Amino acid sequence: MSVSDEKTRRVLRNITEVPTLPEVVNRLLDTINDPDSSAGDVSGLVEQDAALAARVLRMVNSSFYGLSGKVATIQRAIVILGFSTVKQLALGVSVIDFFDADADVFFDPSEFWAHSLRTATACKTIVGRTGRQAHGDLFVQGLLHDLGKIIERQFMRTAFMRVVRLHQREGVPFRVAEERILELNHADVGQYLAEQWRFPPDLVAPVAHHHDPFHAGVPADLAEACMVVYLANLLAHRLENEADGGRRESAVDPRALERLGLAEAGLEGIAAEVKARAADVISLFQ
Ligand SMILES: [Fe+2]
Ligand SMILES: [Fe+2]
Repeated sequence: MSVSDEKTRRVLRNITEVPTLPEVVNRLLDTINDPDSSAGDVSGLVEQDAALAARVLRMVNSSFYGLSGKVATIQRAIVILGFSTVKQLALGVSVIDFFDADADVFFDPSEFWAHSLRTATACKTIVGRTGRQAHGDLFVQGLLHDLGKIIERQFMRTAFMRVVRLHQREGVPFRVAEERILELNHADVGQYLAEQWRFPPDLVAPVAHHHDPFHAGVPADLAEACMVVYLANLLAHRLENEADGGRRESAVDPRALERLGLAEAGLEGIAAEVKARAADVISLFQ
């Protein structure tokens, strides 16, 4: 499922050097990619970084996981949520810290992460409603879906500013503006770097295909996860449009609803639930 050679060339034309992730993120990725890693490896790693451990525990105790303040240690979180959830959660939280948090006139990272967390909450709500078995960790899949945008902002800054200007001043849809200026979009950029960084396939696929979940390149076992993130992203946009009168596209492909066993009429109820649950999660990262 790797990015095509042609797209890789375009990414490399825009980004001179693949940025290096912090040590803690690389070590978390080692434990995620190593089937022999143990719960002790993960708790040890997370506990070494007090700020990371505190954020993971706040997230564990948020309305996202519904454990309401009961979990005081990383070991306990692993017992309750499972090893795999806690390591992916730690990865998601530490990836946020990797990116520059300062806002400028073109981009506000806190708004970006709020959208990402709203999407993560929507993933969780959709799966809760449809009773599907989730493949991969919904929190991180939702959180990182637009990874390519924040990579563009941080590592292709001049081109990114031109994209935002075209989008905001001329009303050109964001992805069209990206294609015009970068000759690729944030799904391509995010996929390329997520692969370079050795993110596991269940995190790469939604980054690559949250706008085109029916693409032939989506691995069969991750098609539903891509569909959930696709729908969750659109629901997050609907809530944001409602709040700021924006003009983002949010029409849902009926094939995705059919695939997930949902009806358009039911989306309003899901969106209302996301709105109620997301505020708490977003406040943890501000
Ligand atoms: Fe996107
Ligand atoms: Fe998005």
